[in-house]
Amino acid sequence: MEKKVVLTGIKSTGRPHVGNYIGAIKPALQLAASNEYSPYYFIADYHSLTTVQNREQFKDYVYRIAASWLALGLDPEQSTFYRQTDVPEIMELSWILSCLTPKGLMNRAHAYKSAVEQNLQNSLDQDAGINIGVYSYPILMASDILLFQSDIVPVGKDQIQHVEIARDIATHFNHVFGETFSLPQYMVDTTIAMVPGLDGRKMSKSYHNTIPLFCEEKELEKLIKRIVTDSTPPQAPKDPDQSSLFLLYREFASENEVEQMRNNYRSGIGWGEVKKELFLVMKRYLEQPRQRYKELMSNSREIDKILHYGAEKARQKAKPFLNEIKEKIGYSG
Ligand code: TRP
Repeated sequence: MEKKVVLTGIKSTGRPHVGNYIGAIKPALQLAASNEYSPYYFIADYHSLTTVQNREQFKDYVYRIAASWLALGLDPEQSTFYRQTDVPEIMELSWILSCLTPKGLMNRAHAYKSAVEQNLQNSLDQDAGINIGVYSYPILMASDILLFQSDIVPVGKDQIQHVEIARDIATHFNHVFGETFSLPQYMVDTTIAMVPGLDGRKMSKSYHNTIPLFCEEKELEKLIKRIVTDSTPPQAPKDPDQSSLFLLYREFASENEVEQMRNNYRSGIGWGEVKKELFLVMKRYLEQPRQRYKELMSNSREIDKILHYGAEKARQKAKPFLNEIKEKIGYSG
């Protein structure tokens, strides 16, 4: 039997940070390594264009994201790893789908809706500063998903609605033109609650509280020292599951180390000590990937080569399917 398709897009809107790694990259790599699925992972650079409108930055983010995934162990043979802009079939399908998408469905999409709400709050025109790309973002995402007959779409909670929209659009198309698309299902990793940032809130670029994944060790050490802790004295027992430091430690330490650290928390350990240990395990874990990341970043041609190879594989599947879709709507070239 053919393996199920698991597909996810990674927006290239910033430098990858530890929150991205724990919340998205690591689980996606685990899925790929399980060999149970046929993974399609791609860089959603056209989605990024809704906000990243600076040539140098656009390029830089794409390479950084690609280099990060590769450095952390994504195997371009075992998975199909590509850049959205290298697969024009996605854009073609996007137009077809937009003609089958009720405008009202887009009005209700949360990202657009909250941008409108914010404008109204600021007494601005409701659509001030909102480009059409932001508005039709979910259609492009539906195209990403449906073009590869995705079964499973791993996403963060904030993207669930978008996968549901893809299902709606697929259902509508199937109704109008006959059974064509399979209906995707979202998958939200619930084992990871929330990756805390330096200030204890969710690690996010918009809070300026991130730890860049491949920062230099000195910087890493400095940032870890900045993670907020409470004023419990060193000897006092502490609850590991309520501690940002422990939540991070858990992701980079071995099972034995985690167990040991749990015990240390219970019997009392100072925050300074935990920070030291956290630094050591993160340093160890990221050392080799950082090296590989640097190599790749200094050789963007190699990244291009890998991405082109992935795009070729992706297009082999996309082209015949897009033709089938076009025939359904009445194209007969
Ligand atoms: N919108 C997603 C995000 O912001 C990225 C994305 C683009 C995506 N296309 C996708 C995710 C297709 C899953 C499937 O994170």
